[in-house]
Amino acid sequence: MNNIYILGIESSCDDTSAAVIKDGIILSNVTASQSVHEEYGGVVPELASRAHQQNIVPVVHMALKKAGISKEQISAIAFTRGPGLLGSLLVGVSFAKGLALSLGIPLIDVNHLNAHVLAHFIKENEDDNDKPKFPFLCLLVSGGNSQIIKVNAYNDMQILGQTIDDAAGEAIDKCAKVMGLPYPGGPHIDRLARKGNPQAFKFAKPNIKGYDYSFSGLKTSFLYSVNEWKMNEPDFVNNHLEDLAASIEKTVVDILMKKLLKAAKDTGIKQVAVAGGVSANNGLRNAFRDYARRYKWKIFIPKFSFTTDNAAMVAINGYFKFLDKDFCDVDLPAYARMEK
Ligand code: KG4
Repeated sequence: MNNIYILGIESSCDDTSAAVIKDGIILSNVTASQSVHEEYGGVVPELASRAHQQNIVPVVHMALKKAGISKEQISAIAFTRGPGLLGSLLVGVSFAKGLALSLGIPLIDVNHLNAHVLAHFIKENEDDNDKPKFPFLCLLVSGGNSQIIKVNAYNDMQILGQTIDDAAGEAIDKCAKVMGLPYPGGPHIDRLARKGNPQAFKFAKPNIKGYDYSFSGLKTSFLYSVNEWKMNEPDFVNNHLEDLAASIEKTVVDILMKKLLKAAKDTGIKQVAVAGGVSANNGLRNAFRDYARRYKWKIFIPKFSFTTDNAAMVAINGYFKFLDKDFCDVDLPAYARMEK
């Protein structure tokens, strides 16, 4: 059989990314991030769409160049169809459609969340075979989602629980904003937390049934506590940056791990993965290693480059759909919110 080359395209939020995967092995993964949002303290959708327009052609060009292939060698194009910011999605979706039509090759639509989970199957080389076996659990934690997913197969994922309000990353970013840290605050909290005392401060933990999460109370509890402490000590935040960061991080990690442990116990599944932007967090990664020892889990933690939004995860998802001949029509629209 001929080699299968999948070009993946991701543009759901503020990263324009293109990647090439050959028979499941990564050849390139090029991402242009958008610093334009930093001064606004969050992603500005219109600015994100404009930046995608500027970045998409050079990013795809670079991904093909790094992979050492011409566009005529591509077998199919996989693109993120949703969920995400509609204006951002439209840039990648339209580009993918145009290129696929001009090359006369199949198009493959990919769900962004499924792609985060399937990032665990990206192979770096022929011998990279230590991958999760089905069924496994995946904690998907990003700026927009917090879910516990039972992964039965590449194309069969069951959401056991999810946030009923804010996502974990969103809560961390909002607390970071209260502390005056730049956007996105997650990486700054991580860096500061490494030098702080996680027991220094206590914040509200939610009491939600089942496997669902809630993070909006944490953000409020943090804001009220900080305002109260500032009344006695005006420079409170700056004087306690590291302890505050470590305490928030620990609170979020404790909330995430408690439900994940419950899901693992109830299902009897001991293969547990983590995915999404927040999986870059060192406190969460350490908690996974700790739980692996305590509960005899086999854990899967992605490489840093596959934690945040990237097109390699879209390409690997596209590769599995290609093997199933699961292609889409050129008139398929993007979706900001996708029920799938
Ligand atoms: O998956 P992702 O790149 O995309 C969106 O959901 O848009 O996740 C971004 C989230 C942000 O909330 C960011 O602050 C968080 O991931 N994040 C982190 C770390 N790196 C990124 N949170 C905690 N620690 C980190 N090291």
